[in-house]
Amino acid sequence: MKLKDKVVIITGAGQGIGKMYATKLAQEGAKIVIAEINLDNANAVAREIEGQGGDVLVVQTDVSDEKSTQKMADETVKAFDRIDVLINNAAIYYGIGFKPYDAISVEDWDRLMAVNVKGSWLCIKAVVPQMKKQKKGKIINVSSATWLMGIPYMLHYVTSKAAVVGMVRAISREIGEFGININAVSPGLTMTEASLTLPGQPPNLDKMISEQTAMKRNEQPEDLVGTIIFLSSDGSDFITGQLINVDGGWALH
Ligand SMILES: NC(=O)c1ccc[n+]([C@@H]2O[C@H](COP(=O)([O-])OP(=O)(O)OC[C@H]3O[C@@H](n4cnc5c(N)ncnc54)[C@H](O)[C@@H]3O)[C@@H](O)[C@H]2O)c1
Repeated sequence: MKLKDKVVIITGAGQGIGKMYATKLAQEGAKIVIAEINLDNANAVAREIEGQGGDVLVVQTDVSDEKSTQKMADETVKAFDRIDVLINNAAIYYGIGFKPYDAISVEDWDRLMAVNVKGSWLCIKAVVPQMKKQKKGKIINVSSATWLMGIPYMLHYVTSKAAVVGMVRAISREIGEFGININAVSPGLTMTEASLTLPGQPPNLDKMISEQTAMKRNEQPEDLVGTIIFLSSDGSDFITGQLINVDGGWALH
């Protein structure tokens, strides 16, 4: 077990890739905190983890709200005494669809930035004081290959996923001296329900992307798990401020 007794907060773990992280990291011995806005989904994932014999806590969290992210950190420490890992996975992605840059409403732009960018920062702010006390901690921001590829027609989303990498690079220099590592992972188009149902997607998007990758297949949520375990584990203690593309060789150009 590579993460035995590590306390891992995963935001947005109620479905899709975050749910995969939660169930797989629990199998590696981690104590999982599901910080998710959708309580029904969060509870369903928690039941699955408990069914596997894992330790899990649900904290209903809106990552865009500072009181809520503070509660996420406080309840984690109350339940498990520490915070070893934060995975900033929550995002507005499901249902965003493809639209020209000038058809995105200001309200949609602001809401997406509040969750995807401000939300990652607020979660970092909430957990770092505890990690400082421990003189150790790991933070992983979830980016996306879309900004490296310059994918058009989802400008707010793509901009937000570039921003979380800038955040990683800059803040790594502010928190490294406390033994806290922060890195980013960049998935390619991954076959979650959100990707499969993206409104306005071109026909055969999955086939097109699979042909563009070096590995010549579509990415599955499981493909991300090994890198997330590595970045959560002691094996990555001297890696910080980095972006790892886990995309089967899609963003190679
Ligand atoms: N699926 C892909 O192709 C892909 C590719 C690259 C990056 N990503 C990124 O990976 C992550 C997961 O992707 P997914 O396909 O599982 O997405 P998803 O939209 O299915 O899941 C996102 C989760 O975040 C939760 N969430 C949304 N707003 C929240 C808030 N304010 N507070 C707390 N939780 C909130 C949702 O309820 C949901 O459970 C996202 O950061 C996404 O941008 C996905």
